[in-house]
Amino acid sequence: MRHDHVISAKQFSRADLEAVLDRAAEFADAQRSATDAHEGALLATAFFEPSTRTKMSFEAAIKRLGGDVIDMGPVEYSSVSKGETLADTLRVIEGYADAIVLRHPMEGAATMAAEYVDVPLFNAGDGAGQHPTQTLLDLFTIREAEGLDDLTIGIMGDLKYGRTVHSLAHALTTFDARQHFISPESLQLPRGVRYDLHEAGAQVREHTDLEEVLPSLDVLYVTRIQRERFPDENEYRKVAGEYQIDAETLDAASDDLAVLHPLPRVDEIAPEIDDTEHARYFQQAHNGVPVRMALLDLLLSDAEDSGGLATDGGSPGALGGDAR
Ligand code: NCD
Repeated sequence: MRHDHVISAKQFSRADLEAVLDRAAEFADAQRSATDAHEGALLATAFFEPSTRTKMSFEAAIKRLGGDVIDMGPVEYSSVSKGETLADTLRVIEGYADAIVLRHPMEGAATMAAEYVDVPLFNAGDGAGQHPTQTLLDLFTIREAEGLDDLTIGIMGDLKYGRTVHSLAHALTTFDARQHFISPESLQLPRGVRYDLHEAGAQVREHTDLEEVLPSLDVLYVTRIQRERFPDENEYRKVAGEYQIDAETLDAASDDLAVLHPLPRVDEIAPEIDDTEHARYFQQAHNGVPVRMALLDLLLSDAEDSGGLATDGGSPGALGGDAR
């Protein structure tokens, strides 16, 4: 079976992930050259939370594939402010576009939304849940920097509310990576994520200190404390500013350590690291374009093959497995 939607990193097998990364590598090689593979395709973006990278790289991706974007615009100017439900909004939008990108503050929103729409739906973040397309560009960046075999990775910061972490950790289980989670106790992985990792046979250890694992790491994936998800601002203040890294921190790291961050950063990574060989986070953000080109290409091609409006060219669907 094929993937109709991209909702959670849990839906992908290793072969699926590699198929997307391989396709993305082809687009990356030709990053500045547009194709007309999906000429006429329209992508709708519906963002109920702020976004810079995810939204703009999806826009760039569909345009480089020959398609175009329609955007719901700010929530306060949409009919959502009149009390329209998410399901109704999306059922209307699907009539305007060939695929939908949704970001919503409610965990599970994308899973629910997928019940209502037939065009491919991309979860661009559902509250503290999942952010699977970010995971693919994270994996792409890791593969470029270190390869995905025999990987030791440290994932640090807000592991409780960080949806990029939840998706990435799951995807990494398919590559048998050794995963070290570094956070204050109050921001450790949610029980459900820990359970899923355990079920997937993940090699996981949890730490409160970076020092004890830093020398063994190939990759350090740093995350922002998700201030907007704290029910109590005082709880945020207790942990804000912990787990920052600077050039001195990295003295203890391997020379080859790749530092990643989904961005935006606040104060987790000192700017002095930006110009070092360790810094991969801006390249990581740039990788969002070829990776999302690959995802759009694969899902739009699948949708076209199964009876949607055919456009010229495009590659045959390559993702096996089931989306739900
Ligand atoms: C992340 C997100 O929205 O979850 N940003 C992104 O998509 N690159 C990370 C964050 O906001 O901290």
